Amino acid sequence: MAKEFDRLQVIHSFHYLTFKTALNLFMQLDGNLIVETGSMRIEDDPGGAYTLLWGAFCKRYGKKLITVDILPEVTNFCKEITNEYADYITCITQNSVEFLKSFDEPIDLLFLDSMDCPIPIEGKARASAESAQRHNFEEFEAAKKNLHKNSLLLMDDNNFSSGGKPWTTKNYLLTQPDWICLLDYAQSLWIKVK
Ligand SMILES: C[S@@+](CC[C@H](N)C(=O)[O-])C[C@H]1O[C@@H](n2cnc3c(N)ncnc32)[C@H](O)[C@@H]1O
Repeated sequence: MAKEFDRLQVIHSFHYLTFKTALNLFMQLDGNLIVETGSMRIEDDPGGAYTLLWGAFCKRYGKKLITVDILPEVTNFCKEITNEYADYITCITQNSVEFLKSFDEPIDLLFLDSMDCPIPIEGKARASAESAQRHNFEEFEAAKKNLHKNSLLLMDDNNFSSGGKPWTTKNYLLTQPDWICLLDYAQSLWIKVK
């Protein structure tokens, strides 16, 4: 896959290590469904373009992706750019928390990448990131019922001095005996073990 998408900045970023590991585990654990919050919105997002990569992966291995974004223009762009993988991707326009609350299928890999976490302002890093961190946790809470033993949870933008999007969710998961952190880098990767 790396060769085909070598032009994308994300392939050469620290994020790619955790992304690839998540997909490796997903295959080993016989996963079928990936759910992504926050869809691809620009051609070569240095911190993203995952929807395209998930789509190519799903086509190659016969898996399914659902991606949800609150903005119709993002959904439209995402549909266009991932057109080649349309049979494997469902693009939904909705608030991700609302979507997850009403979604009732098992999720094998949940990728949380929606509300942007602002770059920290000096001395106010935590406060500036609060909304994104709360939203990330609400997404996790809404999806909890869909996560089973061996479900994977991957969260983006983990390498900000504010703690990034996953901060609140990670602090919660650390108190939960049924979740183990596998990798904590530019993204944070977790597995549900019970
Ligand atoms: C970082 S981008 C997602 C990038 C994408 N995963 C990719 O790989 O290219 C974040 C997206 O989250 C969306 N978003 C923000 N708040 C949201 C919410 N409450 N529900 C769903 N999507 C939201 C934004 O519209 C934006 O397109």
